[in-house]
Amino acid sequence: MAFRTLKDINVSHKKVLVRVDFNVPLNSKGVEDNTRIRAALPTIRYLRRNKAIVILMTHLGRPKGVDDRLRLDSVAKELSRLLKVKIHKVDDVIGEEAEQEISELRPGEVCLLENLRFHIEEEKDDKDFARSLADFADIYVNDAFAVSHRAHASVHAITKYLPSVAGFQLQKEIEMMDKILHDPKRPYVAVMGGAKVSDKIEVIEKLLKKVDALLIGGAMMFTFLKATGLSVGKSRFEKDKVSIAKKLMKKTKGKIMLPTDCLVSTSPDGKPQLSDVRRIPSMMMGLDIGRETVTIYSEILREAKTIVWNGPLGMFEVKKFANGTNEIARIIAKNRGKSVIGGGDTIDAINKLKLGKRFTHVSTGGGASLDFIAGKVLPGIKALEENFKR
Ligand code: 3PG
Repeated sequence: MAFRTLKDINVSHKKVLVRVDFNVPLNSKGVEDNTRIRAALPTIRYLRRNKAIVILMTHLGRPKGVDDRLRLDSVAKELSRLLKVKIHKVDDVIGEEAEQEISELRPGEVCLLENLRFHIEEEKDDKDFARSLADFADIYVNDAFAVSHRAHASVHAITKYLPSVAGFQLQKEIEMMDKILHDPKRPYVAVMGGAKVSDKIEVIEKLLKKVDALLIGGAMMFTFLKATGLSVGKSRFEKDKVSIAKKLMKKTKGKIMLPTDCLVSTSPDGKPQLSDVRRIPSMMMGLDIGRETVTIYSEILREAKTIVWNGPLGMFEVKKFANGTNEIARIIAKNRGKSVIGGGDTIDAINKLKLGKRFTHVSTGGGASLDFIAGKVLPGIKALEENFKR
């Protein structure tokens, strides 16, 4: 990769602005899953040891302006617990008060700015907003692989104003995935689930050029089943994506595998019933893949030498519809080839099964890892490369 990393620069007594991805699930007590916070610890610890003043910034959720439920206090608390140091939580993102608080920090100290997305300029990749952030610091570090597929101000525009390098987490993600997927051992199989096809269709198209088989599950299977002419009852599907799904299946002749059976019910609270996908009752919705599908998919996965998996196969957060996801997770965990797992829900599912350590690489990224795997250019990474060239 043609960009600089943390070890290529001197950070001692410098103000270092670090983009992290602390977009973590919260519950009433605080942070529900701290995987993404833990992933940034090596970079933060290195900066502290080397006497940098550390200014962290992240988004949380998708607020449209200020939303008190998405303030970062509980995230700062969790980070402080993990690092065992005080985190100076700044209640603003930019402005005089933030500037004042940052100017009082000493080398080795850490602060966390408020949720970047409280400013709509962040998602617009606004230059003035990026410049205001850059004014806080001497160096910019991107340690947020999971948001590097977004051309947002704190990921993209900011690299125009500061010397910019990759943090350890970003570097590790790229190196690992590159190593596994650059020249993958075959058969190379992708498993894709989750709710929507719409945000994945372009990626699916690119992915199909690389893999030998693509196994579909999750709600997106109903868009594909609909495209084969079947009735899907009350199952969720995306009407406007049916024709693209049809074209993709025709073009890739047999590479896309669809479930043959599924668990259906009147609602996620209802009693599950097994149904052939050709006979989904009109008043029922599909909520998980069925036993026969698990068996067919398992046979393909057992033979695979490289596997990428993104998105649960059913509504796994409801126990009675978690079997498909759990079984597929166990099969991939047993495979002796290489595996790359991505997506917040997928990680949640494997953590619940305590299988996290059984895969070659568990990415912090959802959309970002999919884009990377499919060979798309990630704007955050391209921006680091361009900064290096300058
Ligand atoms: C993610 O959760 O995939 C990243 O934090 C990016 O979040 P976004 O999809 O809201 O941009």
